[in-house]
Amino acid sequence: MKFTLKPNYSLASENDLLAVFCFEGKLEQILDFSSELNRFISEAAAKESFTGKDGEKLQISTKGMISSYKMLIVGLGKNEDFDIYKWQKSVSTAVRSLISSKGVKAGFILGDHLFTNNYSQNIIESSVEAVILSSYSFIKYKSEEERKKVRKIEEIEFFLKAGKINNQGEALSIGEIKGLATCFARDLVNEPPGITTPLYLANVARDIAKESGGVIDVQILDRDEVKKLGMDSYLGVARGSEEPPKFIILTYQPYRFKKNIAVIGKGITFDSGGLSIKSADYMETMKLDMAGAATVLSVFKYLNLLKPKVKVTGIIAACENMPSGKALKPGDILKSMNGKTIEVLNTDAEGRLTLADAFSYTVAKIKPDYMIDLATLTGACMVALGHDIAGMWGNDDKLNSSLMKAASESGEKVWLMPLEKEYKEMIKSQIADIKNVSSGRYGGAITASLFLSEFTGGIPWVHLDIAGPAFKEKSDALSPWGGSGFGVRLLLTYLSQF
Ligand code: BES
Ligand code: ZN
Ligand code: ZN
Repeated sequence: MKFTLKPNYSLASENDLLAVFCFEGKLEQILDFSSELNRFISEAAAKESFTGKDGEKLQISTKGMISSYKMLIVGLGKNEDFDIYKWQKSVSTAVRSLISSKGVKAGFILGDHLFTNNYSQNIIESSVEAVILSSYSFIKYKSEEERKKVRKIEEIEFFLKAGKINNQGEALSIGEIKGLATCFARDLVNEPPGITTPLYLANVARDIAKESGGVIDVQILDRDEVKKLGMDSYLGVARGSEEPPKFIILTYQPYRFKKNIAVIGKGITFDSGGLSIKSADYMETMKLDMAGAATVLSVFKYLNLLKPKVKVTGIIAACENMPSGKALKPGDILKSMNGKTIEVLNTDAEGRLTLADAFSYTVAKIKPDYMIDLATLTGACMVALGHDIAGMWGNDDKLNSSLMKAASESGEKVWLMPLEKEYKEMIKSQIADIKNVSSGRYGGAITASLFLSEFTGGIPWVHLDIAGPAFKEKSDALSPWGGSGFGVRLLLTYLSQF
């Protein structure tokens, strides 16, 4: 797929589809063609009652007035409601229309009206991302016949006013990097759980380090080394499985850096629930439980190309959560690496057990300035925020706001949730320091976050519960069914600011 920037729209430019984007009630902003075509568009809009509402579209055939046979006008809704997510959804409308009409080349006119808001810096980058994300499909397990049917977009030309084109070349390549990184995470989540074992993830990490030409360093700790470090909480989860655990540490260290940031991903490569086994329908999608790890790996795969001036350490405590004769039992007590004892009352609340040790290791060995974790942690977070929005908890207001800003700039939806100290009462254990499930029926995503906060060692930290958005059970504008790669764009955007 090729992306090009062109100054001013040229009538002679040949495309299967020409897309223009229109704010509600502002049709005049896109009437920048010949007077004949402008009149034609106005008449078509009036006839079809097209006003540019969010989600509205109008397709017209240009009848030889310009070289592109078809024109699609996409409604953006009200100017004041505009954001990157809405913009990317509109781009995907155009992409879908191109694909469904079997076209391979499109021109997008990005008029000046798109650059009059707080997001003007991110328009080009997010357009490229949206094209890549909305044309993604995972077809490697389909027959060759089916695979052949999938059409690849060859080229998208972005037409900008001549004066706007300066410095935008870089935005094209950044958008491409973030888009491809997200697709890499989707691929990892979409692979079957029999493939993406802890060893598989460790090998992906090794390949990333190898490809980086020495910029990224990798270390994989085996069961014995993990045991020596005292990570019994993590090993407790891993012990029910035939697949050995792999503790993955990736390090990106530029020549000059001021901050050291740790990104930690939940890496349960399959969550059966363990002895507190899940019902068949809840287990169906549980290959998704390594989505946090997939995001961390994808960030590292592409970090090298963005070259931020920040040290980044990636941590993944990868294992399976399986029932067996050796498996963890409800009632067992585990000691985590930081010395705290955990009473396990439900083996399906396993993510926090692995993260407790991933955090303790990070605090003791990496000593980062900030810690960010991504975890498909609780069904309760999905109940609260649905499929599209990640819950965010944190112990540092400034770090919270920088991540909220990165989320809004990258079009990923995140909502700040309370780390309500009074709820700690609900995870007090009778016989250990803490228990892994709450005694209350409600607030499960908060008590899970409070549990994690016990292992942060006072380091500024943000937790993203991505149980909802990590996996699409229904396709949406930017993602088909399956892994969504949530968090990759957010993290790359956040880390690029350094
Ligand atoms: N991996 C699940 C959470 C999850 C559920 C992610 C649905 C994505 C979709 C996690 O390990 C889990 O099972 N959590 C339990 C915790 C409970 C036992 C306290 C849950 O949310 O039901
Ligand atoms: Zn679970
Ligand atoms: Zn889980």
